[in-house]
Order: sequence, then structure tokens, then C-alpha cells
Amino acid sequence: MEHGCVLVPGDGIGPEVVAAARRIIDASLANEGSSIRWVERDAGTAALEKGHDSLLPEDTVTAIKEEGVALKGPCTTPIGGGFSSVNVALRKTLDLYGAVRPVRSLDGVETRYRDVDVVVVRENTEGLYAGIENEITPGVVTSLKVATDRACRRIAKFAFTYARDRGIGRVTAFHKANIMKLSDGLFIRCAREVHEAEFTDIEYEELIIDAACMRLVQDPSRFGVLLCENLYGDVVSDLCAGFVGGLGVTPGANFGEKNAVFEAVHGSAPDIAGKGLANPLAITMSGVMMLNHLSVKTGDADMGRAASRIRDAYDRALREGARTGDLGGDLGTEAFADAVIERF
Ligand code: NAI
Repeated sequence: MEHGCVLVPGDGIGPEVVAAARRIIDASLANEGSSIRWVERDAGTAALEKGHDSLLPEDTVTAIKEEGVALKGPCTTPIGGGFSSVNVALRKTLDLYGAVRPVRSLDGVETRYRDVDVVVVRENTEGLYAGIENEITPGVVTSLKVATDRACRRIAKFAFTYARDRGIGRVTAFHKANIMKLSDGLFIRCAREVHEAEFTDIEYEELIIDAACMRLVQDPSRFGVLLCENLYGDVVSDLCAGFVGGLGVTPGANFGEKNAVFEAVHGSAPDIAGKGLANPLAITMSGVMMLNHLSVKTGDADMGRAASRIRDAYDRALREGARTGDLGGDLGTEAFADAVIERF
């Protein structure tokens, strides 16, 4: 089978790591009958540089709607002013409401923690990320936190379904409903009701976000799926990335009813962009999630096998000491990709 997939290189280290991931995926698929037809499209400041008049060109959105899946590099968002986030716009435009960030300890990557295996499920469309901010008068601003019954319920259902499908026994909702009684109150009330109605086979608990962070760093192994509203999910994803070696090894995916966009948790890393130093593993792992998604969605076992081959190869590469600089090694982006491909 041939599967169309939109490839968005993005900004900063994006083009480097996306090219490496594509090479790894194609090399793995070369052992199978199936293939990917990459449809390259632009987003971010890279789109402006290539002459588009928008950071998120219409033909990029259209291509993702046509193909149903995309592998996307990071896009830069300026701090404290300038244009608003392309990533947020893409998630809203395609209604990619469920972000999934699996965080797993890797053999060969030494950290303070062992046997971490948690999944952050983040609501992707509302909360403070709705970006509704006003300057009431100079020196006074407000930022509106949005929560709707529909979005809270569907992300809860998504998290419980994800847990059940993968045999994960516990879902923990992170909240601050003691202070944000209405918005976070709605979030946990919906989660509780969804749990009671359909998912009593899965353990459900609620933790106030500050205490939850402390318990996470004390013992991440007690957690399974972490159900978070948008901003908490954003912060907790990076916190969890720190358990397993950092942003270079933490993949992600954004799911809607019709489309899915796979992207690493990390950003465009301007400090190392263009130097060939970035770790391509996080986006490669996101690519593995994409292959598995295609396998389940279309029943194409070749995709599942190609995904397992890549996962086995990077696990082995890491165990055998192949590492990029962020993990204490000396390989560059391309050399690490070669090290993975050599192990197929
Ligand atoms: P960042 O994730 O780009 O970088 C944080 C630190 O991690 C830096 O020291 C960087 O060198 C390192 N790092 C990140 N990815 C790495 C990799 N693959 N290999 C080795 N080291 C890596 O976060 P930062 O600096 O806060 O954001 C930079 C830009 O990226 C901002 O404009 C931000 O808005 C954007 N961003 C975009 C995201 C997306 O497109 N999904 C997600 C997060 C941030």
C-alpha cells in the first residue's frame, strides 16, 4: 500500500531533524512492500521565507485534510509579542483536540529515574491557550481561561480509551479546581462522569497540579496516563521529558476525529539550529507513532513492522553508545540517523 503523508519541516532545527526522520522511515519501509508518499508543505517562518503570505498557508492545511496525517517539525513563536502560535492555529483549525506525549525510559540513556513509562494526554484546544487576552487599561491585562463541557468530556473519553487500548490501568487528572472552581471544576467533573459511565475498569484519581508535580518527581512509576488541560499538559510534558533524557527523546502526536499531526514535544531550538547537532530521535519516535497509527487505521501490517524495526534499531543504537550531544554523546543529527539505519 502507499500512504500519503504531509511533511512539514518547520523552523530552526526542524528541517534537519525532519529530514533525518524521513530518511530513517524510508529506509525501514524499504524492507516492506508499502511506502509513504511524502507531500512536502510549509509552516512557520519558513513559509514566509519561501514566499507564502501566511505562517500557516492554506495549502498546508488542505494537504493535511486530504492525506489525514502529517509529520511536522517545530515552528517558532516569538515571546511577549509578535505573531501568535502556528502550532496553536493548526491544532485549532484541524480540531486536533487530543495531544499524546508518551514518556518512556530508554536503555542507554542515563538519568536520575528508571522504568518511567507515563503518557501525558493534553487537551489541545482551549484553556488559557485559547489566547483570549485583553489590555483593559495600560498596566492591567486579562487572560481568559476557556473550558467547555464538550471539550472536557471528549478529552476525558480520549484519555480513558487510550489507557484501555494500551492496557494502562490508571488515569490521573491534574487540576487546580480548589482555586479555579468553575473551569478546572468542569474539567474534573466531566472526567469523573466519563469514568463512571464507561471506564470503571480503569482506576481514576484526581490530584491538584502542584502536589501532582511533587509526586511525579518523587515517583513517576506510580502514574499511567496523566489527563491534563492545555497549559498543565504543556508544562507537565516537559517536566516528564526530563525523567528520560530531555526533549531530544520525547515524541508526540495531536489527534482529531479525522486528522492526526505527529510532532516532537521540543521546539525549534534556535541555540543549535543549522549546526547539525540536534537529536532527531524525538521526531523519529513521533514518526514511529505515525506508522503505528497508519497500521491500525488502514490495517497495513507493513507499517507496524516498519515502526517496530525503527524502535528496535534506536533502542539498540542507544544501548551500544550511539548518542547525540544532548545525551552526552558526540554524534551529529545525520550520524545518529545512520547509526539507527545501520541496525535494521
Ligand atoms: P526548545 O524545545 O526549542 O529548546 C529548549 C532546549 O532544548 C534548548 O536548549 C534546545 O537546544 C534543546 N533541544 C530541544 N530540542 C532538541 C533536540 N532535538 N536535540 C537537542 N537539543 C534539543 O524550547 P524553547 O527554546 O523554549 O523554544 C524555541 C522555540 O520553539 C520558540 O519559538 C517556541 O515557541 C517554539 N516551540 C515550538 C513547538 C512546536 O512547534 N511544537 C514546541 C515548543 C516550542
